[in-house]
Amino acid sequence: MRFNTLYFQASRRFLTSLAVPKRLPFGVLTGKDVGFFENVVGKANVRTQELDDFNKDWMNWYKGQSKCVLFPSSSEEVSAILKHCHDNKLAVVPQSGNTGLVGGSVPVYDEVILNLRRLNKNYSFDSSSGILQCDAGFILEELDDRLRTEGFMMPLDLGAKGSCLIGGNISTCAGGIRLLRYGNLHANILGLRVVLPDAKGSVVDFGSPLQKDNSGVHMHHMFVGSEGQLGVITGASILSPPAPTSVISAMIGVQSFAGCCAVLRDARRFLGEILSSFEVMDAATMQCLEENEQLHNVLTSSPNFSLLIETSGSEAEHDEAKVQCFLEYLMENEMATDGVLAANKQESAFMWKLRETAPLSITKDGYVYKFDVSLPLNHFYELSDAVKERCGDKVHRVVTYGHMGDGNSHLNITTKEPSFEVENLLYPFVFDWVVAHGGSISAEHGIGQMKRDYASAGKSECIGDLARSMKKVFDPQGILSPYKMIM
Ligand code: FAD
Ligand code: MLT
Ligand code: ZN
Repeated sequence: MRFNTLYFQASRRFLTSLAVPKRLPFGVLTGKDVGFFENVVGKANVRTQELDDFNKDWMNWYKGQSKCVLFPSSSEEVSAILKHCHDNKLAVVPQSGNTGLVGGSVPVYDEVILNLRRLNKNYSFDSSSGILQCDAGFILEELDDRLRTEGFMMPLDLGAKGSCLIGGNISTCAGGIRLLRYGNLHANILGLRVVLPDAKGSVVDFGSPLQKDNSGVHMHHMFVGSEGQLGVITGASILSPPAPTSVISAMIGVQSFAGCCAVLRDARRFLGEILSSFEVMDAATMQCLEENEQLHNVLTSSPNFSLLIETSGSEAEHDEAKVQCFLEYLMENEMATDGVLAANKQESAFMWKLRETAPLSITKDGYVYKFDVSLPLNHFYELSDAVKERCGDKVHRVVTYGHMGDGNSHLNITTKEPSFEVENLLYPFVFDWVVAHGGSISAEHGIGQMKRDYASAGKSECIGDLARSMKKVFDPQGILSPYKMIM
């Protein structure tokens, strides 16, 4: 079998005006490599045909040209593969659920795809300590379901929970809808098993399955959010919180963004430790849900902003009284146009359906320019207004939803077709604006291919130099996920 280098042209439908880095002088996959991989993982777990679903990302923005997808089922298999790739200088991209939104999980050229979905055998949970130890290839929702049978849950939740894998979540330091209460993954990951792309394919346990361990440099944190640039995560020890016995959802209509900030301030005061989600959807999001999904807001006042809040506690009566009292306070003080308290699980599920369908609903407009930024709250919605003014009627919609309680705005601009003109209006304008207003160009989705050229925005040169040096230590041949976050 021979694969021709001439075909290696990166293809993408996103940010088409930016240059793609040239293919680096990596090896080219041969029949001999494929034979080696078949020996390691078995013939059935090496795929060389019908690879489209693995080569393209969830948004259908990027399409790589890998000729081979591998499905290892153990750290030992991953180790043998990475050692071989190191020795033959074959580039590799780790892939979990392939739900990433920045083109990180797909090849840029012909990188071998290391799909980790079969890495889902080992699972153990200690219900006294709340510590879960598992392989990295479990689906997030499956882990959550298993933990709930013992009265616990995963410390994170996101719309892609039915497809994303825990290794992918850790590699992106996924945020989601419960971060406000349970913290980000740096707070909950205690240890990681990682396979390095070095001459030995070293299998290393960083951190440990212990709550407290100050016996060395806390290196496991470097893999949380490093997007597969330093090693392949094959296992994790995770601190899992007890599942709440009382969960209450409510939606609140507010006319101004300053008003939303006031509601957040008072939600923290009234609801304290039980406040677990504080999400925002603007009127354009609601209109998009109506038009593209026929989903109607539960709020009838047609507010400019619909807030979805949730509490997670253990005393239903007490929690309900607190939420009720909070809603009454908002109405009495004319801080809300209307409010709806979910009367049961179905009503709560519908409120979350509105929020979690937002990412899919915008894709039905045709084309989406997606941003995921962190901003100080006083600038959170100013950005959306600035973009509306800048783009005018050249775009179909400017939609903002997001994890307002974490200062995380998901600003999405939709058009019917990809447009150079709109691209040039948005890039680098949005990123420059965010950096100038004290924000971050990626709150939770990461850098991947999409923000590669802007990764250094607002950071000192020293940080980039250190990241590159670190990559060299872990990945001496630079074979792991090239052309992405660390360049
Ligand atoms: P993939 O997409 O397969 O990979 C993501 C990155 O991690 C890639 O760079 C890949 O190379 C690397 N990687 C994957 N597995 C490993 C591994 N085992 N070792 C080393 N590197 C690895 N994200 C949020 O943060 N919050 C949200 O609320 C949220 N909601 C979403 C809703 C929808 C509908 C969708 C489609 C996506 C959403 N996302 C969200 C983005 C995405 O789901 C997350 O980034 C998720 O954590 C990716 O997990 P995955 O298993 O799909 O990883
Ligand atoms: C979300 O919060 O819905 C996700 O991060 C996905 C998105 O931004 O569209
Ligand atoms: Zn999000």
